Amino acid sequence: MKLTLDGISSEQALRMADGAALAGDAYLANALYNWALKNEQDVRQRYRLRMRMGLFRGRHPALMLRLLRTLEEQRADPSNQVFVGAGMATWLKTIPFMDDERFLALEEKHAALLPIANWHWNLQVVLWAVQQTAAVEGDLVELGVFKGHTTLFTAEYTGFETSAKRWFLYDTFDGIPDDQVRDDWKEVNKTLYKGTYSYEEVVERFAPFPNIQVIRGRVPEILLDNCPEKISFLHIDLNNTPAEIAALDLLIERISPHGILILDDYCWETARPQFEAERRWFAERNLHVLPLPTGQGVFIKT
Ligand SMILES: C[S@@+](CC[C@H](N)C(=O)[O-])C[C@H]1O[C@@H](n2cnc3c(N)ncnc32)[C@H](O)[C@@H]1O
Repeated sequence: MKLTLDGISSEQALRMADGAALAGDAYLANALYNWALKNEQDVRQRYRLRMRMGLFRGRHPALMLRLLRTLEEQRADPSNQVFVGAGMATWLKTIPFMDDERFLALEEKHAALLPIANWHWNLQVVLWAVQQTAAVEGDLVELGVFKGHTTLFTAEYTGFETSAKRWFLYDTFDGIPDDQVRDDWKEVNKTLYKGTYSYEEVVERFAPFPNIQVIRGRVPEILLDNCPEKISFLHIDLNNTPAEIAALDLLIERISPHGILILDDYCWETARPQFEAERRWFAERNLHVLPLPTGQGVFIKT
């Protein structure tokens, strides 16, 4: 669909898009939100637009939009108080990053690297973990990098290039290996990952950080001889149950006391079998993961 609109503001386009969404035309609504996004510079208005785009990943976009509009109407300054991302909404809550211009600007800068709109709360959790473990012994590790979105945001926000720590990023850069991918993820793997990004582009993206190493390889094998002995922060985001469990087996002992592990996919409905396997894995060791409404699971090493 090619949209040509003249002389209307992004707010007007947003209202037209809302109308289309409520009428059940998600395709037109998305095109209009996209148009508005291209023609809008204000970071808060862009956030409102992306809240709406996030709704189309859910099963009931029109219903969710009604809810979002009701929440917005309750507020004198709605964009400051309401959050809607993929699969979660907050209201009547302080939203810490809403007062943080640098957070918002960096989120905006890198949003295109992730196919999910409004990742703010997830980034907030990772940022907290990285800041909280700054004095914990060891290096940082991410398993499952994709285009580098979360780590890039966090590294830029914290000025990681001046840190004495190192950050190791592992990915096949070719999606989930065929022998590890779940049957119902095969299509997702083909369309979302395979061929949509490359090792070279991610290396280039992290070039300003001499202490961040991008490593191409398959988890768990790549970890056997190329992984730090001590880890202060571990981010696991593979959407791949056997690889995540194998990584836990290999790395849990390397996490330093007070170190933090974040399991990005822990509570996503789409990763339910992985949740079951990981919950069992932790229960067998009498360990407990904090499940978050962001979908993440947080584990703090004692
Ligand atoms: C959800 S994405 C990671 C997103 C990234 N953490 C972020 O926040 O921007 C999942 C990534 O895991 C990678 N992956 C899945 N299984 C893997 C394995 N066994 N070894 C290495 N990488 C793997 C995929 O290639 C994909 O890029």
